Amino acid sequence: MSAPIISPSILAADFSRLGEELVAIETADWVHVDIMDGHFVPNLSFGPDITATVHRLTNKPLDVHLMIEEPEQWVETYAKAGAHTIIFHVEAVADEQAAVDVAQSIRKLGVRAGFSIKPGTAIEPWLDKLHHFDEVLVMSVEPGFGGQKFMPEMLEKVRVLRQSIDEQGLDTVIEIDGGISPDTIAQAAAAGCDAFVAGSAVFKAEDPAGIVHQLRELAAGA
Ligand code: DX5
Ligand code: ZN
Repeated sequence: MSAPIISPSILAADFSRLGEELVAIETADWVHVDIMDGHFVPNLSFGPDITATVHRLTNKPLDVHLMIEEPEQWVETYAKAGAHTIIFHVEAVADEQAAVDVAQSIRKLGVRAGFSIKPGTAIEPWLDKLHHFDEVLVMSVEPGFGGQKFMPEMLEKVRVLRQSIDEQGLDTVIEIDGGISPDTIAQAAAAGCDAFVAGSAVFKAEDPAGIVHQLRELAAGA
């Protein structure tokens, strides 16, 4: 297994000092960018301009998590803003074929394509579509807000995904998002996650770089 990927979510950062916050996570692998539209989720965050600003302030790959309706309308905008990966929610598209179409349009832009599933969404219907995706983001909280409690029952989806990805010989990355901290990351890693989003655990800490390092060690040791 390759080294765990730690992706701090800037949703929990202090935006009055965004540049410094990005320097403070110099030990991170990716930067997770949460886009919320106030419709798909009951919260608003920020959009393509802030994403482009983050891209200008860091050379880390941007893991852009679209919690928005009609994601297909926005993929080009976020590709231009500097996304390395664009993740959309399967609940925001009509059906499986529509999701595959969105993934193909993301890949055509030279960007990695990912889909995400909310806690109430089953993974099984997506297992034979995994080859269209570079990443699957399993939500371990209801999307919309940082700082929520980790839902350990979501790890069953991770186990199913891990087995299916391995059986199919794919290299699709399994990422988990919500409530990841030094207390929860080891169980997520043991279930088969490759990448870990952490918002509050990193940015509310006194030493964000140290927490990132600790999270990586805990995941690697699981
Ligand atoms: C929730 C977002 C998460 C959030 C994670 O809708 O997708 O990325 O920022 O925050 P924590 O790590 O605080 O649960
Ligand atoms: Zn997210």
